[in-house]
Amino acid sequence: MVIRTTPKNEVPKELQGAHIPRHIAIIMDGNGRWARQQGFRRVFGHQSGAESVREITRECARLGVGRLTLYAFSADNWKRPQREIDFLMGLLKKYLVQERGEIMDNHIRFTAVGRLDALPANVMEELRRTKEISAANSGMTLCLALNYGARQELVDALRRIGRDIKSGQVDPERVDETLIGRYLYDPEAPDPDLLIRTGGDVRVSNFLLWQISYTELFVTPVMWPEFKKQHLHEAILDFSRRERRFGAIAESE
Ligand code: IPE
Ligand code: IPE
Ligand code: MG
Repeated sequence: MVIRTTPKNEVPKELQGAHIPRHIAIIMDGNGRWARQQGFRRVFGHQSGAESVREITRECARLGVGRLTLYAFSADNWKRPQREIDFLMGLLKKYLVQERGEIMDNHIRFTAVGRLDALPANVMEELRRTKEISAANSGMTLCLALNYGARQELVDALRRIGRDIKSGQVDPERVDETLIGRYLYDPEAPDPDLLIRTGGDVRVSNFLLWQISYTELFVTPVMWPEFKKQHLHEAILDFSRRERRFGAIAESE
C-alpha cells in the first residue's frame, strides 16, 4: 500500500504535529435515531449519512490517512424491515455510481470486504466497476464493509485454511497469526490504528474483531449524519495524545 504524504499546508492548524493514523475504521451509527429526532423517517438518516461519508472520505484522503474502512452494512442488518434494506441497497448503488468522479479526483483506491456475493446483482456490478477503475490509484484506500461480520470473516478464513490443510498446501504446525491474516478478506490491510463509533453506543457490533486487538477506540455521541470533519479532527487529536504500549511498558520507565 502506498501512503500519500500530505504537504504541511493541507493539515489544518489544530492538527499540526498530530500523528495521523495510518488506518481509520468507522462504525457509522445513529442514522435512524438522528432522523427520528428530527421527525423524519429512518431512511432520511441514511440519505443524510451519505453526505458525511463524502466529507469524511475527502478529509481523510487530504490528511494523508492510508486506509479508511467504513462499516456500511453488517451481516446482521438483514434483520431490518425489507423496505429499509431496499432503500440502503438503492442508496449504495447510487453512491457507487455518483462518487466515481470524486474517488478518481482524490486518487482513491476503492475496495470492499464482506460476503459480497449475497448483495443484489446490480450493487455487485457497480462495486466491481468502481474497484476496477480505481485499482491503479495510489492515494488512500477506501474500503466499504458490506454484508460484513467479523465472525463470518473468521469462519470463511478457517474454512479456506481447513481446505488448504486437507489438500496438503498448508502444514497445520505452520498456522500462526501471519498465516491467518493472509486468509482474511483483505490480506493487505494493516490493522486499524483508530476505530471511531458514532451514535454513542460503546460496542463493536461484530466489526473487525481480529484486526482491532490493539486499536485505539473513540466513541462519540454525535450521530453519523452530523459527524463532520471537525469531529474527525477531534478523534485524531485524541488518538494522537494516547500512548500505545502493545503490552510493553512506557518508554520513559
Ligand atoms: C447506521 O445507522 C447505518 C446502518 C446500520 C446501515 P442505524 O440505521 O443503525 O441508526 P440507529 O443506530 O438505528 O440510529
Ligand atoms: C453497526 O450498527 C453496523 C453498521 C454501522 C453498518 P448497528 O446499528 O447495526 O449495530 P447495533 O445493532 O447497534 O449493535
Ligand atoms: Mg444502529
